[in-house]
Amino acid sequence: MPWCRGPALTATSAGTTWMQEILTLLFSLGDARPAKTIPNWERAPWLEQIYCREALRDTGSPRLLTTHLPAPVLAPALQRSKAKVIYVARNPKDVAVSFYHFHHLAKFLPDPSSFDAFLTQFLEGTVHYGSWFEHVKGWLGQRHLLDILYVTYEELHQDLRGTAQRLSSFLGCPLAPGTLAALEQHCSFSAMRDNAMANYSLIPAEIMDHSQGRFMRKGVVGDWRSHFSPEQNALFNRRYQEEMGDTELPAQWPM
Ligand code: A3P
Repeated sequence: MPWCRGPALTATSAGTTWMQEILTLLFSLGDARPAKTIPNWERAPWLEQIYCREALRDTGSPRLLTTHLPAPVLAPALQRSKAKVIYVARNPKDVAVSFYHFHHLAKFLPDPSSFDAFLTQFLEGTVHYGSWFEHVKGWLGQRHLLDILYVTYEELHQDLRGTAQRLSSFLGCPLAPGTLAALEQHCSFSAMRDNAMANYSLIPAEIMDHSQGRFMRKGVVGDWRSHFSPEQNALFNRRYQEEMGDTELPAQWPM
């Protein structure tokens, strides 16, 4: 495929699985078969996974990679590469809620004792992958240094078709007739929840305890409102203002 000269890297603080699916459909020009037959971790391997080296050998071109790594780790190499980077961010309050529930499934993460305790750790940046604030600020700081497109989870919700068009023009990827309709259908929450190649149900129970809930949990905007107490919300807003007050963001999240 001549349209994308380097790899496409999806760097995310959230919205990872959704973006992997969208890019799979864009890369396949709307053919859902790869997304229905190949697990997402093979279609868009994680840079930080040990098996990545083997997985990379078999991926075609353009290559699609995924990471949660922070910008300082990757930016120097990316600046010397032809990679196109797509950074996905989500309202951090919804990230905290989603990540809290994920901790119940993921056996490789510590058991969160309570939402309140987890929220404290989230705000202190002592959760897996560190501080959300540092992560987002780090990748936003690359806007003039990398070939990078910022996308929010909320934009995907509001206008999946329009965001997919923006992604295709950023990647220089042609849109075949029918691609957007196929993408909208296949990348809907319900279709992905039922797709074993995207919903992580193939991961063994020792790694993800599926009896504790589904990875494809709710997929909504604003679920934090049903989890945060007024005190937790006030604390979060204070901390957010301290950390992000001067930052130019890709979205104004309702706080
Ligand atoms: P919730 O836990 O709020 O439901 P990531 O892939 O970065 O780990 O993010 C997981 C979150 O993305 C989960 O959020 C999951 O439900 C949501 N998600 C995945 N695919 C989605 C889709 N097609 N539509 C809406 N939300 C989706």
